[in-house]
Amino acid sequence: MDRIRISGGKSLNGTIKIGGAKNAALPLMAASLLTSETLCLSNLPHLADITTMVHLLSELGVEVSMNGDAPDGGHIGRVFGLNGYEPKNKTAPYDLVRRMRASILVLGPLLARWGEAKVSLPGGCAIGTRPVDLHLKGFEALGAKIELKEGYISAFAPDGLKGANVLFPSVSVGATENILMAATLADGKTTISNAAREPEIADLAYCLRKMGAEIEGIGSDTLRVIGKPELHAADYQVIPDRIETATYAVAAAITGGDILLKGTRLELIESVADVLMGAGVNVSEVEDGIRVTNPSGRVKGIDVMTEPYPGFPTDMQAQMMALLAVSEGASMITETIFENRFMHVPELCRMGADINVHGSSAIVRGVDKLSGAELMATDLRASISLVLAALAAEGETIINRVYHLDRGYERVEEKLAACGAVIERVEE
Ligand code: UD1
Repeated sequence: MDRIRISGGKSLNGTIKIGGAKNAALPLMAASLLTSETLCLSNLPHLADITTMVHLLSELGVEVSMNGDAPDGGHIGRVFGLNGYEPKNKTAPYDLVRRMRASILVLGPLLARWGEAKVSLPGGCAIGTRPVDLHLKGFEALGAKIELKEGYISAFAPDGLKGANVLFPSVSVGATENILMAATLADGKTTISNAAREPEIADLAYCLRKMGAEIEGIGSDTLRVIGKPELHAADYQVIPDRIETATYAVAAAITGGDILLKGTRLELIESVADVLMGAGVNVSEVEDGIRVTNPSGRVKGIDVMTEPYPGFPTDMQAQMMALLAVSEGASMITETIFENRFMHVPELCRMGADINVHGSSAIVRGVDKLSGAELMATDLRASISLVLAALAAEGETIINRVYHLDRGYERVEEKLAACGAVIERVEE
């Protein structure tokens, strides 16, 4: 299994090109199941989760063709044509769903288009139980019958889905996406209330509109959809990855560096930028990107609470904790989205951080320096937080189980090394 070796203490200076958003790309790829025509997606990141989605869609009968890297040195991101005519199969098997929870996003499109679908129950994962009840209640509201048997969700709507009012009791990104996709082919009008407002959902909605869907309220918590008998071909470019953007912003901050994040937008990371600036980091919008500098090399402690968008993203909690671990002062970090999302804490403490967890909050008392150690990556965002901590630490850090990183960060060693980090992948 690959490991990453980092010699810390170098200030990072340079330019990092931000890729397309994984969490926008996955639902957009699932949307290809809604039409018999070709959905052509560009700016797709080169990540393990995207490959898993390609496998799943191929299993379902979608023909996926990769048109190679776009111009600009091949770094604009890949272009895929997804042609979803007749499914050979309407089942998403356990083996693929187990590897990636986002596989559940094929349920809505399959059910809406073919009146039936079967998807393995995702089950628990490292960051909590993560149920799918909100997805299922939404489909039931649209008239589907749901059965849970032998670890699978079977959904049926032999006469098609019917538009309805779907009110989510709590905010869920995946459930909003699944119901939104299904509603585009339902008969009549659907209103989704208390919808999640993440930019990836707006991205999906804009793409669905290009495919012929009628959707109002994009970007708000109420989405109104008028169902259509069918959708058609479209070309669509995936938005920049806001979590990758914010992660490299923290890399600049934690190493006292100066990084230009190219091909991304400040409005996508506003809540993270507010916290960084509150901690004393300079974040400014420049032409075609964002510049992040932290000449003092330190930050001040600041309290952070994760919330649904536009609040501070849970997918940035671990990275921010690595930064605050070497701040001047104390910070309280509260995780309100997922239980059990503090698995990076013991690893950071092994590097010398002073962090105590009390329920859903962590008290982080800043220390002057972290020191390198041998560490274990546990999930995607926890893994990158260890990389960030290692970049700032004294001495050498080895991070094991880096396959988690490959699920969400494209060419991470290359991008950091280009800014002066001493980082390498050790293949075993
Ligand atoms: C998506 C993102 C993930 C991010 C998360 C929160 C993708 C592929 N993943 O995950 O990176 O961390 O949003 O921004 O886009 N819940 C239920 N019942 C459900 C669904 C969710 O109780 O049916 C709960 C979850 O356990 C969690 C909360 O709702 O506590 C939010 O989860 P949700 O927004 O659905 O996250 P995902 O869509 O899984």
